[in-house]
Amino acid sequence: MMPTSPTQPFDFDAATLVLTLINTRQTLLPKRLTAPGPDAEQTDALFQAAAAAPDHGELTPWRFVLVSASRREALADAFGQALLERDSSATPAQVAQAREKAFRAPFVALAIARLGACEPDIAPTERLVSLGAALQNILLLAHAMGFGASLTSGQAMRSDPLRKLLALADGEHAVCCINVGTATRAKSARVRPNVAAFVSSL
Ligand SMILES: Cc1cc2nc3c(=O)[nH]c(=O)nc-3n(C[C@H](O)[C@H](O)[C@H](O)COP(=O)(O)O)c2cc1C
Repeated sequence: MMPTSPTQPFDFDAATLVLTLINTRQTLLPKRLTAPGPDAEQTDALFQAAAAAPDHGELTPWRFVLVSASRREALADAFGQALLERDSSATPAQVAQAREKAFRAPFVALAIARLGACEPDIAPTERLVSLGAALQNILLLAHAMGFGASLTSGQAMRSDPLRKLLALADGEHAVCCINVGTATRAKSARVRPNVAAFVSSL
């Protein structure tokens, strides 16, 4: 039985299930994703999962912008312009490659961190942690639904064309794309870092 509240007794089966989910999740880049993606109800559930992330001060220091099929062209324009702004000698093939990233996954949403002045004054690092937790909730639920998913970023995230497209306010930063779809190709499991390499005792 899954516990339905944090005060319920620890349930070994639930722990095994969650651990299996965590350990079998892996990045599946957009080139490995195809239709179908999540439907409207599943999309809503993914964002509801984000809303369950820990959030010091309950600021909701992040937001997401879902890019519908009809707006992929606008995202592609921003990716293409971003490349040309940082490298005016980019070839048409390179621009086409940058643009193409907007079309690959059936579900694409931009994750935006809200790191400007706020009340209560919660440090930007803590607010980024909250976004990371929200993103992991989305990735794990997408995995549990049977989808492949990934986060992708790159220099376009910090570009003016993307800021303009997303109408980012002062203090808002585009962090990454969330890509979800049906996995076409398996990927070998990544070797995870050893616990001893990142945990010590005082
Ligand atoms: C914020 C963020 C941005 C990422 N951007 C990229 C990216 O642009 N390209 C990429 O191949 N992987 C990207 N990744 C995925 C990581 O490369 C991946 O999580 C890591 O290699 C571990 O693999 P795993 O997710 O399968 O455990 C990103 C991850 C995070 C957290």
